[in-house]
Amino acid sequence: MGNNEYLGKVALVTGAAGGIGEAIARRLAEGGARVVVADLVAERGEAVAEEIGGAFAQCDVRVPSDSRAAVETAVARFGGLDLAVLNAGVVTGGDGFDPQRYRRVVATNLDGVVYGIEAVLPALRARGGGTVVAMSSLAGLVPVPFDPVYGATKAAVVNYVRSYAPLVAHEGIRINALCPGFAETPIIDGFRGVIHDLGMPILEVSDVVDAFETVLGSPDSGECWHLQVGAPVEQVAFAVPGA
Ligand SMILES: NC(=O)c1ccc[n+]([C@@H]2O[C@H](COP(=O)([O-])OP(=O)(O)OC[C@H]3O[C@@H](n4cnc5c(N)ncnc54)[C@H](O)[C@@H]3O)[C@@H](O)[C@H]2O)c1
Repeated sequence: MGNNEYLGKVALVTGAAGGIGEAIARRLAEGGARVVVADLVAERGEAVAEEIGGAFAQCDVRVPSDSRAAVETAVARFGGLDLAVLNAGVVTGGDGFDPQRYRRVVATNLDGVVYGIEAVLPALRARGGGTVVAMSSLAGLVPVPFDPVYGATKAAVVNYVRSYAPLVAHEGIRINALCPGFAETPIIDGFRGVIHDLGMPILEVSDVVDAFETVLGSPDSGECWHLQVGAPVEQVAFAVPGA
């Protein structure tokens, strides 16, 4: 049973038909939030939305109008929007460089956050403020030789969040990024050999959701929060070049 921590809040979670997004959507709903489950995948997304008393929005985060439509679903069904979790993401997959796979990863992981922020800001402003959490990754903070394109998009999300947050802080809108290490979802299926060779431990999805709640509860903005197995989620201390 939830604790009503999010009672009266309306949340939008992209990529919420599975994995981390689904788990975040469920946790928010347990806490009393009304949740818009936004995903490319309709059947699973609809099922999740129904189970948690939310609404499904079929949404390709690569398409700006889809993100706007998902926000419209939140407003129409639940009266507004307080929280957006821009979580949808993909890895590159395949062998060698392929321009189409490259564009798909950039469009999903970076455009999805950029378009998502633009789509949600008017609705957050209408509430007098709100919170955005963008899902980056440890891959946005360290070299990622097994998927450089993925690493580039996640690093871009880190600096987009850090750069954008000061622009909207005066409006009571907070924007943060969460950067988990490997977590137990289907997205890592192509990397299990690499993960094993690196000796990297794998996070439980529930740990990522716990960390997400810490970020959500923080008054800070423009921060990137790193999570790894065995350590509490904490803000990344970025070095200032030349300082
Ligand atoms: N699992 C990990 O190891 C890990 C670690 C760090 C960060 N992340 C990030 O967490 C986020 C969630 O990943 P996950 O592990 O839950 O993966 P997942 O593959 O289990 O879930 C991703 C979800 O995003 C949806 N999606 C994909 N493309 C979409 C699009 N264009 N529009 C809308 N929805 C789309 C998928 O349908 C799926 O439901 C991603 O941004 C990922 O990069 C994952």
